[in-house]
Amino acid sequence: MNLRLFIPAIAGFAGLLASCRCDIPVDKIAELSVKQCTLMEQSLTEDTFPRNFQNGELVLANTHWWCSGFFPGVCWYTYKLSGDEAMKEMALRQTAKILDVSLLSGDHDLGFEVMPSSGEAWKETGDSLYLKTLRDAAEELAGRFSPVTGVIKSWNNPKFTYPVIIDNMMNLELLTYASRLFDVPEWKEIAITHARTTMRNHFREDNSCYHLVDYNPEDGSIIRKQTVQGFADESAWARGQAWALYGFTMMFRETGEEDFLAQAEKVAAFLLPRLEGRPVPPWDFDAPEDAAPGCGTNPEGPFTGPVAGADVQDDASAGAVMASAFLELAGLTHDAALAARCRKQALETLKALCGEKYLAAEGEIGGFLLKHSTGHYPKGSEVDVPLTYADYYFMEALWRYKNL
Ligand code: GLY
Repeated sequence: MNLRLFIPAIAGFAGLLASCRCDIPVDKIAELSVKQCTLMEQSLTEDTFPRNFQNGELVLANTHWWCSGFFPGVCWYTYKLSGDEAMKEMALRQTAKILDVSLLSGDHDLGFEVMPSSGEAWKETGDSLYLKTLRDAAEELAGRFSPVTGVIKSWNNPKFTYPVIIDNMMNLELLTYASRLFDVPEWKEIAITHARTTMRNHFREDNSCYHLVDYNPEDGSIIRKQTVQGFADESAWARGQAWALYGFTMMFRETGEEDFLAQAEKVAAFLLPRLEGRPVPPWDFDAPEDAAPGCGTNPEGPFTGPVAGADVQDDASAGAVMASAFLELAGLTHDAALAARCRKQALETLKALCGEKYLAAEGEIGGFLLKHSTGHYPKGSEVDVPLTYADYYFMEALWRYKNL
C-alpha cells in the first residue's frame, strides 16, 4: 500500500478504536453472559436447546433443530471472553449433547450445528472425541452436493425441486475446515464450487441476493428464484444479505480465492448505505414499515393470526451477523477506505446492540442476551423475539472486536 494512504488509514483506525472502546463494554457483557447462560442452562434438558422467548416464556427446541450448535457456541465465546472455567465446563456439557448430530440432521445445516459446538471444542481442547463428529458431518454435507447443479442441496422440502438458500454459504466452513483437518481436498473443492455457483445465480444487479434458488437436478438449470422468509421474491431479506456477507468473507479467508473477496465487497457496497442511520437492520430492507404478517410472496401461504407483542420490526440477528462479518472483512480487504467503513459500521451496530433497547438485563428473557430479532416474518413465526443465533453471532462479533 502507498505510504501516504497507509499512515492516515492507521491513524484513522486508531482514532476510531479509541473513540469506540469505551462504548462497547465487552467485559461487562461477558459477565452478563456468564449469568444468562447459567440461568438458561437450568431450563435445559439433555434433549433440548434454547429457541426463543415468546409471550413471557422460554421456548425450547430439540437437538435435531438447525440451531442446536448455537447455545454451545455462546457458552464457548462466553468462556473465551470471560476466562471463567465454569463456562468451559458448561460449553463441554452442552457440546456433548450433539456429538451425534450428523445422524440426526437430514439437511444442509450441519455447519451451523457442528462448527460452534464440536468445532470449537476441538480447537479449545484438542480432544480427539470431537473428530468423529466433524468428519461424519463433513461427509454428510458433501454427500448433498451434485456436480450437475454445482451446489449442495439445502432442504429436502417437497415444495421445491432442488432448493439452495443463501444461508447454505455458512455451512461451507465445515467443509473447508474438515478438508484441512482430514486431508480430503475434495471437500474444499465442493465448497468452492458451491460458492461460485451461488455467486453466479443468487445475486442481482444491485448486489443484493435472493433467498432461494430452485434448480433442476437433471441439467442444473434454474426453475425459480424466490424468497421464503423475506417480504417478496425481489426484496432484500436482511438475514439473507448477512449470510451472504459473512459467507463470502469466510470463503476468502478459508481459500484465498480473490473472487470471493470481491463478492463480499460487493455485498458490503449494497449494505453500507442501507445501514446508514439504522445500524440494526429491519427484517427486510424493502418491507414497508407497516408490513403485516402474511405479507409478501411467501410460498408457504399467508399467515393470518396476530403476532403477540411484536412491535419492533428489526432483526437483531441480522445485525449481529453483519457486525461479525464486517469486522472480518475489514481485516481482509485490500481497500483501506472500505476497511474503515466496515469497521465503523460494525462498531455502530455493536454499540446499538449493547444499548438498553436490545441488550437483556440480568435475569431477563430466560437467559438470552439480545431482544428484537425476527425469524420468519411472513409466516408470523418468531417475530420480535430473542433468537439463539442472534446471541451467538453477537458474542462472536465481540470476540472479533476484542481481538482487533
Ligand atoms: N437458516 C435460517 C434462517 O436464517 O432463518
